[in-house]
Amino acid sequence: MARVIGGVGTTHVPAIGKAIAEGKQKDPYWKPFFSGFGAVHRWLAREQPDIVVVFSNDHGLNFFLDKLPTFAVGAANEYRNEDEGWGIPVSRAAKGDAALSWHIINGLVADSFDITMCQEMLIDHAVTIPLQLMWPNGDWPAIVPVAINTVQHPLPSMARCLELGRSVGRAIATFPQDLKVLVVGTGGLSHQLDGKRAGFINKDFDTLCMDQLSGDPESLTRYSIPQLVELAGAQGVEFLNWMAMRGALTGTVSELHRNYHVPISNTAAATVLYENRPRVLRRAA
Ligand code: DHB
Ligand code: FE
Repeated sequence: MARVIGGVGTTHVPAIGKAIAEGKQKDPYWKPFFSGFGAVHRWLAREQPDIVVVFSNDHGLNFFLDKLPTFAVGAANEYRNEDEGWGIPVSRAAKGDAALSWHIINGLVADSFDITMCQEMLIDHAVTIPLQLMWPNGDWPAIVPVAINTVQHPLPSMARCLELGRSVGRAIATFPQDLKVLVVGTGGLSHQLDGKRAGFINKDFDTLCMDQLSGDPESLTRYSIPQLVELAGAQGVEFLNWMAMRGALTGTVSELHRNYHVPISNTAAATVLYENRPRVLRRAA
């Protein structure tokens, strides 16, 4: 059976792609951010996940504001990247695993998630940057991309995204192939790119979110979407992707690593690494 071995939450700021292309990882501006990935690299080298389920938001590459699915799941064997601006080079395509995608789609629909299924899907910086951060030499595992609308209101609630992740986690656990699965939530943490509050960052709220996410994600569902916009910024709502990632960790979760650095571009850049161990069932005496 497949099992979810862990989760990573990471920012996906496009400027990171440009810094990678220009080899700036050790520059004073970038070092505190990139050095936060050392622990992730060591863990990945040890655990060797076979496949990655990526929860992220589409920024206009597949869907635009006129048609925007709340939840969309890729069901392809390859996902191409196209030029989306930002000055980042077009990246390699990511491999997919259509069989696992369809298994997850079936599980989600059985759990009453009316998702959009995409037999063709492009990947934007929200997927390519985290993959390149985690596997800098380019040997990305195959992916299943899950796109959550964090762009066009009304957005799904924190509770709904947590439940979406739980449904994905349950589906993975019943996939009849021995696969080690990593789940990733991308975006955030606090940031706002436009309007009067452009540049807004809220370290206290980001810290609270990271403090609660591993042990008590349910407590974060008390924040409504308007409250989340207020506290995290208009684009800080990308934290919804992290909620889904956490939901997919259905075992015993421990935080192995955390890095937080402000700012990268306009964003509070955060990286977390969670381990997910199977729950030990105690026999009744
Ligand atoms: C930035 C952050 C994002 O999440 C994004 O999608 C684009 C840009 C930024 O801080 O520049
Ligand atoms: Fe973004």
